[in-house]
Amino acid sequence: MRDVGIGIVGYGLMGRAHAHGYTLAPRVRELNVVPRLRVISGRNEAAVAAAARRYGVEESTTDWREVVARDDVDIVDVCTPPGAHAEVVEAAAAAGKAVVCEKPLAADYASARAAAEAARGVPNAIGFNYRRLPALALFHRLVQEGAVGDVLLWRGSWLSDEFLDPDIPFDWRFEKRMGASTFADLGAHLIDLALWTVGPIAEVSAQSETFTRTRSGREVDVGEASSALLRFEDGRVRGTLEVARVCARRPCDFSVEVNGTRGTLRFDYERLNELWYGEAGDEGRFYGLRRIRAEHPSHPYAAEWWPIGQGVGYGASFVNQAADLLERWPAARWDPDLAHGAQVQRVCEAMERAAAERRWLSVDEVE
Ligand SMILES: NC(=O)c1ccc[n+]([C@@H]2O[C@H](COP(=O)([O-])OP(=O)(O)OC[C@H]3O[C@@H](n4cnc5c(N)ncnc54)[C@H](O)[C@@H]3O)[C@@H](O)[C@H]2O)c1
Repeated sequence: MRDVGIGIVGYGLMGRAHAHGYTLAPRVRELNVVPRLRVISGRNEAAVAAAARRYGVEESTTDWREVVARDDVDIVDVCTPPGAHAEVVEAAAAAGKAVVCEKPLAADYASARAAAEAARGVPNAIGFNYRRLPALALFHRLVQEGAVGDVLLWRGSWLSDEFLDPDIPFDWRFEKRMGASTFADLGAHLIDLALWTVGPIAEVSAQSETFTRTRSGREVDVGEASSALLRFEDGRVRGTLEVARVCARRPCDFSVEVNGTRGTLRFDYERLNELWYGEAGDEGRFYGLRRIRAEHPSHPYAAEWWPIGQGVGYGASFVNQAADLLERWPAARWDPDLAHGAQVQRVCEAMERAAAERRWLSVDEVE
């Protein structure tokens, strides 16, 4: 059993979630390596030291370059705000480390592409954790197996109330340069699922609104409610995306649906162990959508967790992600990789520009 040293950059929500993932991965999956949480970095010395103790990380530092430089770190896991990702990814790759980076890969496509390019020579992965939930992995599998026939429509929405209160003070999420757009922050997960399940997006039109334009005396340049129409490269498939952070009493409610020539499949995050499925050819007496519980041992990831009927939660997506990465260590290639992260970012940027320019825009136009 070989040790794999992990260094985490950023100790906020995602630093905690990723540490949780590496810690529990060997409890759910038989692995040939032992993940060792060597070091975590952050700018506040006392806070990052406290986080290290809580998350079970051996050491802490206020200098992320130390994480990248350490000989006992094999994987640098980037959990800072989007605008701070690319620099760390590039430095880690230059030091020959494998890189895992939270979504969105960057705050703009040029930086995302540069980061993906820099990491080409090392194992690299983007953190689209939701596709590691059993129900969403099953959603993908069922579409690939033809359960809905040929996809006609894809629909994704993400509704939260995190920006509704105009008195929430300014932080990195309200500044596009650091926090990326709402298309990228929330939409990246949905666009990942669309590209993964349906295929590339060719063209978009979009709109975006910011209702509270200043916070703590500073200008907010991030959309609070953004939506887009999509045409996929498979010319027959159309889609819609809505991402909004001003929806009262909606905490983190996202849903994804496809309608195909033979059926419908729907996922609602509020019921994250379930899918809704309807087959057009089903007998009339069963008309409607039936509830699938993505917990059967034949379903992705399900057998590794609890007995059927117990379900999994958000944390399981990070454990599954860590297990998938560690299982392939030493990896030549992880999936999804940063190049995919850059493709997602390109679609996000196309939406941002389409909204700003009030027109349909081909994703190819984003250079
Ligand atoms: N996959 C998911 O489910 C999920 C959920 C939330 C956030 N995210 C993503 O994870 C990343 C981090 O988000 P989070 O919620 O953990 O954020 P957070 O605010 O909880 O933590 C951010 C970390 O980065 C540091 N940081 C803050 N501002 C910085 C700056 N200007 N420069 C450098 N470092 C800075 C903080 O000190 C902290 O350690 C973002 O890219 C975000 O989009 C993913």
